[in-house]
Amino acid sequence: MTDTPLTEPLPRAACIIAVDGPAASGKGTLARRLAAHYDFAYLDTGALYRAVALGVMDAGDQIEDESAAVRAAENLNMARLEEGDFAARLRTADTGLAASVVAAMAPVRAAILAAQRQFATMPPDNKAGAVLDGRDIGTVVCPDAAAKLFITARAEIRAQRRFTELRENDGSLSFETVLADIQARDGRDANRATAPMKQADDAALLDTSDLSIEEAFAAALARVEAKLNP
Ligand code: DC
Repeated sequence: MTDTPLTEPLPRAACIIAVDGPAASGKGTLARRLAAHYDFAYLDTGALYRAVALGVMDAGDQIEDESAAVRAAENLNMARLEEGDFAARLRTADTGLAASVVAAMAPVRAAILAAQRQFATMPPDNKAGAVLDGRDIGTVVCPDAAAKLFITARAEIRAQRRFTELRENDGSLSFETVLADIQARDGRDANRATAPMKQADDAALLDTSDLSIEEAFAAALARVEAKLNP
């Protein structure tokens, strides 16, 4: 038996903010800004699925190969997500599409669930809370999150944002291709059997289609504050 002094305070439960929504809705930018505002840790869970997809492709396996994807998920190294070249490869359109294929596999989702929950409940650097963004944070990963947002925007607006971002590295890309990719991903993310993208019943909806980043952040913060400090 360990002698824990009775005076030692119990660890305070981490405050979790869940931010879900479709690709290029603005959820990443908003989640990052919320984390900075509250001095919370931030986890882009999409990057985990992207890293699994890269792991499969780098091993020379087919993206549809479920056992290869599970292997990549089990060997996922969260520290690599920030490494320069790897981080840049995570962000390409091809990796995003491949990520939506492995994200539809239930055993892949199961393999990275614990790491996401660990990050949320025990945020790194002793932070008092964590902001996680993804598709199923409010519904599956952190159903007890203190505040939940579901960020969306019209598909054409999201495609335009992604097009502007991706065109910097690929001048041959067309808007129509990006829009078709976004729609294909929306369909796969929303219609898969396991943890489909969906607004949690207790999540606040925010449509960023006609908002500037500043307006969207003010609206997101107001919704989170209404939950955290009513
Ligand atoms: O947010 P993103 O574009 O980086 O996500 C990449 C893919 O991963 C996307 O198709 C959906 C999937 N994803 C998921 O299924 N669940 C999450 N929590 C995060 C992302």
